[in-house]
Amino acid sequence: MHTLDSENIPTNTTENEHFQSVVNRAVNRRGFLKFGSGAAVATFLAGPLAACGGTSSNASLLGFKALAASTADTVVVAEGYTATAFVPWGTPLFTTGEGATWVGDGSESAAAQARQVGDNHDGIHFFAIDGVTSSEGLLVMNHEYNTTVGAAYDQYITLFGPTATPANTLERVNKAINAWGCSVIHIKKDSAGRWAVVKDSTYNRRITAATPMVLTGPAAGDTKLQTSADTTGTQVLGTINNCGNGYTPWGTYLTCEENFNNNFGTVDTSSDTRTVGMKRYGITAGTTGYAWETQHARFDYKREPNESNRFGWIVEIDPFDPTSQPKKRTALGRFKHENAAYAFTKDKRVVIYMGDDQANDYIYKFVSTNAYVEGNKLANATLLDSGKLYVAKFNDGATTGDFMGTGQWIELNISNTAIASYASYTFSNQADVLIHARLAADAVGATKMDRPEWVTVHPTSGEVYVTLTNNSGRTSTNDANPRTSNVYGQIVRWRETGGDAAAATFDWDIFVLAGNPTVTANQGTAKAGSSNVTADNTFNSPDGLGFDKSGRLWIQTDGKYSNSGDFANQGNNQMLAADPVSKEIRRFLVGPKECEVTGLTFTPDQKTMFINIQHPGEGGTGASHWPDGGTAMPRSATVIITKNDGGVIGT
Ligand code: FEO
Ligand code: CA
Ligand code: CA
Repeated sequence: MHTLDSENIPTNTTENEHFQSVVNRAVNRRGFLKFGSGAAVATFLAGPLAACGGTSSNASLLGFKALAASTADTVVVAEGYTATAFVPWGTPLFTTGEGATWVGDGSESAAAQARQVGDNHDGIHFFAIDGVTSSEGLLVMNHEYNTTVGAAYDQYITLFGPTATPANTLERVNKAINAWGCSVIHIKKDSAGRWAVVKDSTYNRRITAATPMVLTGPAAGDTKLQTSADTTGTQVLGTINNCGNGYTPWGTYLTCEENFNNNFGTVDTSSDTRTVGMKRYGITAGTTGYAWETQHARFDYKREPNESNRFGWIVEIDPFDPTSQPKKRTALGRFKHENAAYAFTKDKRVVIYMGDDQANDYIYKFVSTNAYVEGNKLANATLLDSGKLYVAKFNDGATTGDFMGTGQWIELNISNTAIASYASYTFSNQADVLIHARLAADAVGATKMDRPEWVTVHPTSGEVYVTLTNNSGRTSTNDANPRTSNVYGQIVRWRETGGDAAAATFDWDIFVLAGNPTVTANQGTAKAGSSNVTADNTFNSPDGLGFDKSGRLWIQTDGKYSNSGDFANQGNNQMLAADPVSKEIRRFLVGPKECEVTGLTFTPDQKTMFINIQHPGEGGTGASHWPDGGTAMPRSATVIITKNDGGVIGT
């Protein structure tokens, strides 16, 4: 999500330490840096970062020739590869009935939208139909939101046609509701080897912001989850702001609810009745640009004060059972979930790593009570309902071998005195701790981060990487990121103590400090970025992130595409690949105008890669006509990437 940028506005008013100040102290202790000294900054940046990776022992991980930046309104990909748009917004999933035809002028009805691919593609996962094949599967993806423009962000672009239009009727609001959520799309290679939708497949399914689903786990049924329409506190309509994703080893999809605050407003602007919790989660007073509260009382926080508590969760979907109800897993905590990355503890319990994408918010992990049982679908189906939720604290501290510092995981439990006696909010019970996980994390002094986006786990080392996309609102300079506002972002990694994902402590490091060495004023300062940032791979605002099975780290950006000033030489948003050992980063793909590149998944043989292009032409000024070209409205779409020689992507 780029247009609204509500993630840039901190809602965290606690005094918890900023990650940067922790880095500063670590750097100072090591004697690499004096405040304000460009040369010393450069020494630090080149020193430990270069030393961390050692010499490149597997440079062959990146087999492609680096791509130049691009400002073209098309997808460009490295030489020897082909990128093809697939299943854009509005693609029919069925051959008969409502929505069987894509008209292309925004005139489709709400009912048609419910049977077509949704809008603003984001997280994505390919499930092989039999668990192994690379020629047929279920492509499951998120549809995060609709792009809106204007001073109040109340003018929808493309959803209702080429002219920006407010959602000022029930039909329009319902069309928006049906354009959000997820798609499950049965796809198969045809006789010519081209991927195609298996229309009318019984697997094809749209999950929308109105689909019935259930709340499960420790907070389900709690009074704070009860509404006038659902006195059980367990039955919810819909999932919204589905940003990044995860998947589980037992074959389910995890969709992550992010900026749900943007959908809750009130038509009664007579007084501000927002609670501490509503404010901490970024619900703003008055009406919203999306205007759903004007047509459905449940999105009006004065009429249904608890409805917003039923969003901001991670939702588990079984794509192989089209009749199954999605499950909102309350044990994983409620915040603005970006994505979810799983790992196993040494005794095979399941860990889910998660970021909360807001300036100055936190990184979390969930550790299940019970262990994963290979092949036991019934036992694994409830693994995410019982466990412990932790938040990360990046300690001031001693260097640890080749990493920069230590950290600890703090359990968010009502038995912790810091939580039980928190002055700013009184927690009713453990359910409330999960519902207001942000406030519990505030109470225990978690480390404020620069907008945690995607998390991913290295396939063999178990090291965890996270994108911290930017924090442009920061006003004070510091040692490790000596810039008055972090407009570029960084990727941080950590390894759990003893190599066990259940560990209570970890060591952390900075993998790349994004920056722009082509800006003359940046040279010799931290704004140039770490030593693995060069004129050839410059990028800003890392967001999507994921390892492939070979250990290549794929980095996707959702940043400024002005191509001038701080962002000179960066072009449109892009995807790069990195070698985690040598730390080399090469640009692999560039998206069309005014898009973000997000979501990634592979067929099991790694010979087809699927990514998503979200909100091309988001400015609403006609800059993009991708992917249809001509004068067509721009559409979010998946992109299929193949290597022309049929090889593994990235080689
Ligand atoms: Fe939906 Fe933080 O990206
Ligand atoms: Ca994102
Ligand atoms: Ca982003």
